[in-house]
Amino acid sequence: MGRAKKVVLAYSGGVDTSVCIPYLKHEWGVEEVITLAADLGQGDELESVREKALQSGASASLIADVKETFVKDYAFPAIQANALYEGRYPLATALARPLIAKVLVETAEKYGADAIAHGCTGKGNDQVRFDVAVAALNPHLKILAPAREWGMSREETIAYGEKFGIPAPVKKSSPYSIDRNLLGRSIEAGILEDPAVEPPEEIFLMTKAIAHTPDEPEYVEIGFTRGIPTSLNGEAKNSIELIEQLNQLAGKHGVGRVDMIENRLVGIKSREIYESPAMVVLIQAHRDLESLTLTADVTHYKRGIEETYSQLIYNGLWYSPLKAALDAFIQKTQEQVSGTERVKLFKGNAAIVGRSSENSLYAPDLATYGAEDQFDHKAAEGFIYVWGLPTRIWAQQGKR
Ligand code: ARG
Repeated sequence: MGRAKKVVLAYSGGVDTSVCIPYLKHEWGVEEVITLAADLGQGDELESVREKALQSGASASLIADVKETFVKDYAFPAIQANALYEGRYPLATALARPLIAKVLVETAEKYGADAIAHGCTGKGNDQVRFDVAVAALNPHLKILAPAREWGMSREETIAYGEKFGIPAPVKKSSPYSIDRNLLGRSIEAGILEDPAVEPPEEIFLMTKAIAHTPDEPEYVEIGFTRGIPTSLNGEAKNSIELIEQLNQLAGKHGVGRVDMIENRLVGIKSREIYESPAMVVLIQAHRDLESLTLTADVTHYKRGIEETYSQLIYNGLWYSPLKAALDAFIQKTQEQVSGTERVKLFKGNAAIVGRSSENSLYAPDLATYGAEDQFDHKAAEGFIYVWGLPTRIWAQQGKR
């Protein structure tokens, strides 16, 4: 008896996921492996990925174009939540995992599979995200993670694959571990494992080095409708277009690089490099629009929610009761968040230089220092008396 009969495997076309196919069949007694490659805008040639799975022994090889769902149902809510893990990582990789898990589960249900499988190792966050998301969506499915158990080195993995006709990678494989999708790139390993070493320029693809960015600033106006970015420079954009064009624009000015030591869920610290030009600009612009359109208490309260929300995404709890409850809160707040943000891109910097909204709570006649001032200065006196009363009493008590 094998570990499962029919398995849907998350497939990328790389050596590890390719080797998973014969491994599942020959070592773990799986009868049938169906592969699924999700198109998240990673820019791979997916037709050859599809064929490679069949050559590696898959009984069926599927491609799911989920780009639009990815942006609308995963990236946009994260922007509405201003989600940055540890204040910096825009979660491009983390956001993709629950969506991949969802299509894996749907495919398993459609094809009558009893398990899903993925090629994650035992050290990362992604295994947690896949396993927990699958369990949340269909707790009856088994989850198989061969690479977590097989204990083969890179060379052994390649040699194992060659026995089953899986060609060794042609070009000398990159020393880095890279994950990429529409929202950005995550780069780790190789020389980056030394936290003291500056990342070599060669690792970046979406963002220009400051030395090579234009010497003139460029302005972009981002329109938001209820917290969702909907236009660039006054032109309505569909979700994918908007992200792609903003990636281009901001990347050209070197905006969106992050170099950080991050705390993984599995307890280790790791050195991560990210480039996520559109997400970095959108979150900054969105946050600024919120400060114009939300009341002070909602703005302040939401900061705590955002922190928790970012951790839920990072920690694999996208499908969870707490996440659903926080979504309800965030969606309610976004009813007001429509308007335009003017952003100046220059030498690695995205500066918000102007904003406007029909829901603006900024009251010029109250804010002004000019003659039109409507603010009742005398009212401040009584307010300060009451506001400061506890402090006054405390100070008097100390004097006694
Ligand atoms: N540390 C990031 C995360 O947990 C990115 C991991 C991406 N994987 C990679 N092979 N670089 O979301």
